[in-house]
Amino acid sequence: MEKLYIIIFVLLIGMVWTGSARAKTTITSDKDNVNQLIVHVDKGKEKIAPEIYGHFAEHLGRCVYEGFWVGETSDIPNVRGIRKDVVDALKKIQVPVLRWPGGCFADDYHWKDGIGPRDERSKKINNWWGSMIDANQFGTHEFMDLCEQLGCEAYIAGNVGSGTVEEMRDWVEYMTSDSGSDMANLRRKNGRDKPWKIPYFGIGNENWGCGGNMTPEYYADIYKRFQTYVRNYSGNEIVKVACGPNGADLHWMDIVMQKAVWQMNAITVHYYVRGSGDWTNKGSATQFGEKEWFALMKNTLGIDDVIAKDIKIMDKYDPNKRVALFVDEWGTWWDSEPGGTALYQQNTMRDAVSAGIFLNVFNSHCDRVKMTNIAQINNVLQAMILTKGKDMIVTPTYHVFEMFKVHQGATLLPTDISCPAYKYDKENVPSMIVSASKNSSGTVHISLCNLDPNNDAKLNCKLEGLKPSKVTGRVLTAETMNAHNTFENPDTIKPTTLKGITIKDNIITVTIPSKSVVVLAVQP
Ligand code: AHR
Repeated sequence: MEKLYIIIFVLLIGMVWTGSARAKTTITSDKDNVNQLIVHVDKGKEKIAPEIYGHFAEHLGRCVYEGFWVGETSDIPNVRGIRKDVVDALKKIQVPVLRWPGGCFADDYHWKDGIGPRDERSKKINNWWGSMIDANQFGTHEFMDLCEQLGCEAYIAGNVGSGTVEEMRDWVEYMTSDSGSDMANLRRKNGRDKPWKIPYFGIGNENWGCGGNMTPEYYADIYKRFQTYVRNYSGNEIVKVACGPNGADLHWMDIVMQKAVWQMNAITVHYYVRGSGDWTNKGSATQFGEKEWFALMKNTLGIDDVIAKDIKIMDKYDPNKRVALFVDEWGTWWDSEPGGTALYQQNTMRDAVSAGIFLNVFNSHCDRVKMTNIAQINNVLQAMILTKGKDMIVTPTYHVFEMFKVHQGATLLPTDISCPAYKYDKENVPSMIVSASKNSSGTVHISLCNLDPNNDAKLNCKLEGLKPSKVTGRVLTAETMNAHNTFENPDTIKPTTLKGITIKDNIITVTIPSKSVVVLAVQP
């Protein structure tokens, strides 16, 4: 009896942490470190758009050149100039959509530089990223070939900052028109008869900053003008994407929504995270202690509040949720590796747990968040793939995407979790972040992140509306917080089978190791 009172007391004083009604997280003062999870299998409504697991490739450092493009004459095995090892690895994580060519690069990119015979293409300075010469070997045709090889959708970022309306209009016509127009014929002359499908087109990138340093009022007007000429040809239907705020710049969101809501199908938000430093001293990707680990966990959790606040503003102008929120740049941003190319960083267990938190939070907002694009896919920021000449490795973050791919297209299930706090230096965050979904065959997947780098967590899980017959689990964890894969030891971190899962009286019991990402598969 006494124990029961203690449990009730603990639940009552628990602090509800999360901003999303679909993933309630309550911090308890439970000293036993037991997590209680309820998954409402009987209450799922919304689909998790596969595009929540999207990616981003910019002409930056070695993301596109070397990361994808090596050229047809390269010794590195390639298909029409695109490296095969990278495409093969990425196919395993089911890339649903790829955003290109930037980033800041997009508002300096003139698409006609990147079509026609490769040896005749113009050479331009990449003004944003190290002033390297971009010989435009990778342009529209190569990007669309890459999307076809990956089996993913294309998300093109158009140039508003330094481009013209005519240029943007012609690019869309060039790619999507099946007519006998000059633009469609130019595409045919360059080797592509049938038009491509372009489902997503961004009208500018970070136009509050590198995309033209505009005010929201000015951008909203410019947006409305440019989007008028982004047309649907030959059955292609474009989701027109407006540039939204940097993180929690709610003023930008408010003005752009207010002035241009009827002309957009989606609006973006960008959210980058780091440890305890500032933008001039972001800290090392691999050399850090618990202070920096904790800071990243806390900063990552901030995405939930930012999304909740953005959605509140969107609800004001779009109560029926016609307009989607795209988090089309997110991830960790550390000091570049010494001697590495622009924004090249390593990727540790810390990045993996951060990615798992982000993806769980995105899932829980899937009624409004319909796409996200981690920055960036190869060799830049929180990459899936690192290359060194002909060699290639996958990162811990890649493994998180591979483990979480089971959520793509599944139905989100509401969750309630009570977990102890993860405390560091008088600060608190929840120690466990979760989301769950049910796929078309009835399998329930539960993804859990244990933020605490010191303590394993016992989890009791009840599924409302489902009697579990079999549960399996996969875990990504490591001995140390800064463990990572290298070209010498590429498999230091990779998923393994999670042992010790039991089912008794319909309650699943499992131990979630410290600093880990776990995905459980529950069969009815
Ligand atoms: O992803 C790197 C850069 O970060 C992008 O080019 C820009 O959009 C953002 O500021």
